[in-house]
Amino acid sequence: MATCQKSIFQDLSPSLDYSVNPYAKVLASNRGELSLPLAFGSDLKGKAGQWRSYFEQSGLHGSSPRKLILEIGCHKGKTINQMASNHPDLAFVGMDITFKRVVLSARLAVQSQNNNVCAVLGDARQIDQIFAAEELDGIVAFFPDPWLKKRSQANKKLFNDDFLVTLSQRLKPHGQFWFKTDAEAYFAELKSSASKAGLVQVDRSQGMLTGDYETTFEAMFKNQNLPTFEALWTKF
Ligand SMILES: C[S@@+](CC[C@H](N)C(=O)[O-])C[C@H]1O[C@@H](n2cnc3c(N)ncnc32)[C@H](O)[C@@H]1O
Repeated sequence: MATCQKSIFQDLSPSLDYSVNPYAKVLASNRGELSLPLAFGSDLKGKAGQWRSYFEQSGLHGSSPRKLILEIGCHKGKTINQMASNHPDLAFVGMDITFKRVVLSARLAVQSQNNNVCAVLGDARQIDQIFAAEELDGIVAFFPDPWLKKRSQANKKLFNDDFLVTLSQRLKPHGQFWFKTDAEAYFAELKSSASKAGLVQVDRSQGMLTGDYETTFEAMFKNQNLPTFEALWTKF
């Protein structure tokens, strides 16, 4: 079940029936504790510009992380936790819109003993409210919902010209944006949007994250012999 928050700072409704979604109950009962590294609703107030100190002061990371990376659509946390394991000196925020995926991502961080991951419940359309300009070193978005099946869904696409400007603004100079998709038309549009937003495509070998990170959806497409597309951009 996707979150129906209008604002990213909105807490879970007291009328929410936890028996319908047990993951919402986990979110609510975890409040204020670090048994699971997750944040949502009012936890996110004041985080913009403060993520590095949050990782340091909450005891999550213990020291100020060298770089801060955001994954949009972290699903059940497979990729973000692999990245976090490979890069213990960096901090990773994984964002998704369902209670279940955020809880599972945070649980996987605990199982993987990653103290450099925080799972965030929220719609990425509101990232400018929780990240300050030039706060992020990297943004990763792998296989976002393409919303291309019906013409009426086309305007739901997340990665359009305006959103790429927002992403570019959140990145520091020399920050990087890494994108993968199975939708060739979406990829072509994204390349155009990235260029308009001042991002310059670079070779993958210049990526700040080592590893290829085959995601859950990527594996599914590859098993079906379907093509996938990826590119890396840098903000100069
Ligand atoms: C097709 S799945 C891809 C998951 C994963 N990245 C992978 O490659 O296996 C898209 C993911 O994006 C999440 N998502 C969709 N719209 C979103 C939004 N507006 N903000 C944040 N996450 C979103 C979905 O819940 C889902 O987990």
